[in-house]
Amino acid sequence: ADSLRRLDHPSGLRIGTAVNTDLLASTPQYAQITAQQFDSVTAENVMKWEVVEPQRGTLDFAAADRLVDFAHANKQRVRGHTLVWHSQLPSWLQATITSTTDAAGNRVDTSSLPASELKALLKKHVQEEVGHFKGRVWQWDVVNEAFNEDGTPRQDVWYQAWGGTGYIADAFRWAHEADPQAKLFYNDYNIEFTGPKSDAAFALAKQLKAQRVPIDGVGFQTHLDTQYGFPDLQANLQRFADLGLFVAETEVDVRSTLPVTAAVQAKQTSYWTQTLQACLAVENCISYTAWGFGDAYSWVPGTFPGQGAANLYDEDLAPKPQYTALQDVLRTT
Ligand code: G3I
Repeated sequence: ADSLRRLDHPSGLRIGTAVNTDLLASTPQYAQITAQQFDSVTAENVMKWEVVEPQRGTLDFAAADRLVDFAHANKQRVRGHTLVWHSQLPSWLQATITSTTDAAGNRVDTSSLPASELKALLKKHVQEEVGHFKGRVWQWDVVNEAFNEDGTPRQDVWYQAWGGTGYIADAFRWAHEADPQAKLFYNDYNIEFTGPKSDAAFALAKQLKAQRVPIDGVGFQTHLDTQYGFPDLQANLQRFADLGLFVAETEVDVRSTLPVTAAVQAKQTSYWTQTLQACLAVENCISYTAWGFGDAYSWVPGTFPGQGAANLYDEDLAPKPQYTALQDVLRTT
């Protein structure tokens, strides 16, 4: 059967996957599928700050470099994930942070470090990481998950240090200086359909464009659950594209309550079909990335106990109907 990457779509759309670099080294079948099926890769974890600066001032890009080397050996592009986030911070930084909850139920993080030090740390991190991979990363998720579900800005330590969302524009500017060729993305989940969070991301993107901040695109993570729909994905992608931005589906998976019945499996398959069709229908949609491919290795069961079967391949790395559905879309659209 044709691999997903060999079904090169005339639009040039890249089909990607998140990669677990431990499995890449330990499991030949995993490495073989990664190389044969996909023409873009994202580090599932090893480009995150906690991995690349385990001790303050000590950088470790070894695992990420191995992935980038693998990608280049296999003529794959790299999505860099992720520079500015509230999560997976290095333990030496996390240790300075305490979390509370505000009246609306949203988390508020406070670091004991002064704002000036937090600002300097973030600037150094962005410059060092983007600089390290200069010329080798196609798209960077510069800022990840900056909004709460209600559309208010997430009160993380970056928001604290800047006294607002000004860290976002600064991070894009620093990243652009460090690698002017890289396409710079804002990335978030639950923004696939319109609503307060998607509207907040849209307002941000519009504002950054108006201020000539070097943002190139918006990533829609697309972690879906068959209990919920995504009624206007294509129109929503299009409104961001109409701002003059690229868009991408960056972390697609479709989870359900286990065990999955035939009817639920059919629903999952239709979600995969529809998400790829939506991307193909939007001219500026330049990549479609699955968040891993094997059900045995998914983040889902650990985060949503009792749920799973979210990927294109089953527990034994055999392709599921979801995989065949993507082949059909690429062949026929
Ligand atoms: O590396 C340690 C290992 O040493 C230790 O033995 C093990 C024990 O739990 O934990 C390992 O770290 C885990 C890490 O993944 C690497 O495997 C963490 O516990 C685990 O929490 C972490 O989960 C990752 C999660 O981000 C953290 O937020 C998932 O693999 C990863 O798929 C997930 O990815 C995120 C995207 O970055 C952003 N969008 C949402 C998406 C899903 O949550």
